[in-house]
Amino acid sequence: MTTDGRATHFDDLADEKAAGAAGLEVRPVAGHIGADIEGVDLAAGLDAAQVAVIRAAVLRWKVVFFRGQRLDHAGHVAFARRFGEPVVPRRRGSASPPDFPEVETTADRLELGGKFGMEHEEWLRRRRHTLLRGWHCDHGARVDPPAATILRAETVPPYGGDTTWSNLAAAYAGLSAPVREFVAGLRAEHRLGVGYQPRPGDDAYVRHLLDHQVASVHPLVRVHPETGERVLYVNGYYVEQITGLSRAESAAILDLLLAEATRPEYTVRFRWEPGSVAFWDNRATIHLAPSDNAHLGIPRTMHRVMLTGDVPAGVDGRPSQPVTGTEPGRW
Ligand code: SIN
Repeated sequence: MTTDGRATHFDDLADEKAAGAAGLEVRPVAGHIGADIEGVDLAAGLDAAQVAVIRAAVLRWKVVFFRGQRLDHAGHVAFARRFGEPVVPRRRGSASPPDFPEVETTADRLELGGKFGMEHEEWLRRRRHTLLRGWHCDHGARVDPPAATILRAETVPPYGGDTTWSNLAAAYAGLSAPVREFVAGLRAEHRLGVGYQPRPGDDAYVRHLLDHQVASVHPLVRVHPETGERVLYVNGYYVEQITGLSRAESAAILDLLLAEATRPEYTVRFRWEPGSVAFWDNRATIHLAPSDNAHLGIPRTMHRVMLTGDVPAGVDGRPSQPVTGTEPGRW
């Protein structure tokens, strides 16, 4: 481990040789994050060597991309099972396939606001409490957020609709030494619906949030359970308040950390095609779903399978704590 928290065990040359031996090519696409993987047909099933190469690439590059795949729902779940235990979410979007409880389908992001009686624009306006609000890890308010997500594109617009990821281990390593030390001792509450501005009068979304509260206290710097890297565990979507700080102190520090976490040099942006698959480490990244396609009115249908994750631990070894609506392993 280096003093800035980066794991030193990545061996790119050994990984390249292993990939070659398994018939794969792992091609990094940005300086800190993201790699294309070529030479594999995910629907055909994977041998152990291919699984090992893909696993190592996800840990090293945080998100990997496969193009031109022909996975269906069964193949998607089977692929996910090679890397962990797929999550079976209790609630899924209405477009999700009934016969595959592990698969969540998002066909229409506009439907979300509509469910709570709002036009899409109002829905976005009320939820966007900071400019960086959309950045998130999946289910980050849970005490045991998923370890990984595998997202598959079925229908995508011919332009617009890209997804962006950021490497939170690189973001932590990029902080100055005194700030790294300071934040490594802090914890923060992550809560569903943070910063939402209620509508006057009865607000269906507020009622929904009260009925389905989810919140946990996570370390602000988590130690990655597989790589040992220190990860700046912030996002604009769930993080409510740094524990023990005043609201003003917390807001200022979170603004700073979120700006660091989303610096362009730590990010990669992916242009989807039908059949594309992205597989990311949800413990070491945050991502930003597109917001440049809703007005186009062109369908974008995506299928997601997540892998169960463990309870994060901080630099001091202390685990995250549930606050409400979440317990480990219970979805
Ligand atoms: C997500 O936020 O989990 C999905 C990202 C996307 O649809 O691009």
